[in-house]
Amino acid sequence: MKGIVLAGGRGTRLYPSTKAVSKQLLTIYDKPLIYYPLSTLMLAGIKEVLIISTAEDTPCFQRLLGDGTQLGMEISYAVQDVPRGLADAFLIGEDFIGKENVCLVLGDNFFYGTDITLILNKAVHRTDGATIFGCLVKNPQDFGVLELDERGTVLSIEEKPQNPKSNYVVPGLYFYDNHVVEIAKSVTPSARGELEITSINNAYLALGKLHVELFGRGITWLDTGSPSSLLKAATFVETVQVNTGYYIACLEEIAWRRGFISKEAMITLGESLKMTEYGQYLLSYRGAHTYD
Ligand code: TTP
Repeated sequence: MKGIVLAGGRGTRLYPSTKAVSKQLLTIYDKPLIYYPLSTLMLAGIKEVLIISTAEDTPCFQRLLGDGTQLGMEISYAVQDVPRGLADAFLIGEDFIGKENVCLVLGDNFFYGTDITLILNKAVHRTDGATIFGCLVKNPQDFGVLELDERGTVLSIEEKPQNPKSNYVVPGLYFYDNHVVEIAKSVTPSARGELEITSINNAYLALGKLHVELFGRGITWLDTGSPSSLLKAATFVETVQVNTGYYIACLEEIAWRRGFISKEAMITLGESLKMTEYGQYLLSYRGAHTYD
């Protein structure tokens, strides 16, 4: 399975902070925002990743992550010249996706929870159709909203409705089989002029091939598009890291635990960051036993 991080957009809700720099390069506590969605793909076992961003920001992501070799990954880059919508990722990424299935994660989405790896694995191994997720929120009108029957079966998905049919919304993490590329080609722009991911999800729903997993209380999802949500995410990361002693979205650690790189390679990466607590965290694994 291939992975795409969609990390373009305008980030207007974060102006002036994002006038000169991509939202996905802003810091969430101790690391850039893009580390968090990228870590989600890595936890799903995905090694081949395409990062899509604007022409101005793409070189910054290249400087940050390179070609991914240091993490045992293959990271490539593509430009979205205009923010045409989320479904555009499959048109830009057509050659990259090739004949494989694909997972799309939005560059400003943050997922954390003990069961996340299990949930991701289940989606990766479902090779036919699409898997999306449902999260309970207080402001459903800002998202794609699920209409569910009493058994939790999805009846419809509406993009940013004025009168939401539930408080369950679709977060920015989607798994699709290879048909998504053809489906994306048939999507026409919505009233707000975007190629909507909801149109793709509704196409899978019409085919009877849309699987929806509702996140329970064990999973935290944060959409970090506004100043207060950025602060909330930073506070969350600090609290979890300080209290548990485990880092969230430490890419080098995940690469090691997922078997993408050796422990020695991780320690070498830690050496280059040893002036920071982040680097010291990596170095703390030198010679240490791990039990999880
Ligand atoms: P949004 O938060 O919907 O849009 P935005 O980032 O441009 O922000 P704002 O609403 O404040 O102007 O985008 C969600 C994510 O998807 C975000 O990480 C940016 C990315 N994105 C693209 O890369 N290309 C696109 O065409 C769109 C619509 C979003």
